[in-house]
Amino acid sequence: MERFKLARNGIMKAGAALRQCPLNEDEVRRKTDHQDLVTCWDKNIEQMLRREILQFFPTDRVVGEEYPDKPGCPSGVIWYLDPIDGTTNFINQRRNYAVSVGCWENERPLFGLVLDVERDELYWAKKGGGAWRNGDALHVSNCGKVSDLLLATPCIQYTFLEEHPQRENMLRLARAARAVRSLGSVALELCQLAAGEADMFVTTRSAPWDHNAARVILEEAGGCICTLDGEPLPLNLNTTVAAFNSREMCKLFMQGEY
Ligand code: IPD
Ligand code: CA
Ligand code: CA
Repeated sequence: MERFKLARNGIMKAGAALRQCPLNEDEVRRKTDHQDLVTCWDKNIEQMLRREILQFFPTDRVVGEEYPDKPGCPSGVIWYLDPIDGTTNFINQRRNYAVSVGCWENERPLFGLVLDVERDELYWAKKGGGAWRNGDALHVSNCGKVSDLLLATPCIQYTFLEEHPQRENMLRLARAARAVRSLGSVALELCQLAAGEADMFVTTRSAPWDHNAARVILEEAGGCICTLDGEPLPLNLNTTVAAFNSREMCKLFMQGEY
């Protein structure tokens, strides 16, 4: 089976399972602390996706959130899996969470898929083929003024309450912007930017499985993405992320002129 088709089938199967799975409070576990949670469903879904990928492509490498990475990648193809992006939303709201599957070959994007599970909306892009939500083409907004800007950030605590080198810049930006929104899912917020529903995105913490599928979708929708310092976004490291509807907005943010 072709990799994209395998990914699409897998993500739809994952969505169907998540929409009807039971979840009891005693199935929620802390990973590092009370703000970092995991459920049996994060693990089950990642296992299911891993199994299907490795059955058809045993020499690919799979980097997922819940299971350790095995080094070595004879095929040069790496998959990035987040079985549930927005686990806290999954637990508390039972919506606003996604399954995220990105696929790269020799550090170049092949495709990305992000399923907004409860809305049953599939964001997807193949390199060079545009960005889509189900059957509708996506494009970033044309917002060019900070006073018109909707800023998305997936965690208010990290972005505005913790000390980090860009904190002052972010606070000034938030004051100057039209609005700040926090959904609580890196993947879905990058897709909002791709769909023109937000104009800029920032976070001080993101892992490869959080953003490597959605970044393909965003770039195909005409957006751009880098670290908060304006460096190219690394593929295989935890990193800060800044994403924009245009190069001009990126420049504005890096200059901090607002
Ligand atoms: C988290 C969400 C959250 C973001 C965190 C991520 P998870 O992913 O995307 O919005 O602020 O940095 O780790 O744990 O729900 O997969
Ligand atoms: Ca995540
Ligand atoms: Ca996750």
